[in-house]
Amino acid sequence: MDEECIIAEVTEPYLDRICEIENISFSDPWSKESFMGLLANPFCKAFAAVKSGIVAGYIIDIQIGNEAEILNIAVAPESRKLGIGRKLLDHALDSMKSADGLTVYLEVRESNSAARHLYTSKGFREIAVRKGYYIKPREDAIEMKLEK
Ligand SMILES: CC(C)(COP(=O)(O)OP(=O)(O)OC[C@H]1O[C@@H](n2cnc3c(N)ncnc32)[C@H](O)[C@@H]1OP(=O)(O)O)[C@@H](O)C(=O)NCCC(=O)NCCS
Repeated sequence: MDEECIIAEVTEPYLDRICEIENISFSDPWSKESFMGLLANPFCKAFAAVKSGIVAGYIIDIQIGNEAEILNIAVAPESRKLGIGRKLLDHALDSMKSADGLTVYLEVRESNSAARHLYTSKGFREIAVRKGYYIKPREDAIEMKLEK
């Protein structure tokens, strides 16, 4: 693990760098407006991994009652495989609170072995396949669930 990497709440000044990482990481990236909408949503939380003052990755989740969903996670290509994705996911999961248990959902492209490895290692299990869920290219989504 890179010890210099800290986790901070995302604020608007981070969004240009987050959009850079988003654009390089996904074929159908979210817009800056989408991120701003989520930052304004009281049910959403967004965290950034910041290394030497520069955003290296981010994660966004939403929680309503005892159900939560990981909406987005990405790490800049040059900072991958250093444990930052795991650190972001750990932080997001730790920040979710519920008195009577919590179920966390997410979707992942079938071919995304890096993300599927990360989620499985955290205890997420596959519960469904959503046929043709993703575009650019069209691909099935694996829906995963974690009971905390
Ligand atoms: C998925 C992603 C966030 C992982 O971030 P990361 O910082 O590289 O992940 P970590 O270094 O914390 O690694 C977490 C685990 O995944 C494994 N992993 C990482 N990249 C991998 C790869 N390309 N293939 C297989 N396993 C991989 C690591 O070995 C580690 O497992 P281990 O602890 O058992 O060794 C990153 O690859 C990414 O940003 N991908 C593009 C965006 C994306 O696909 N997001 C997910 C959308 S559902």
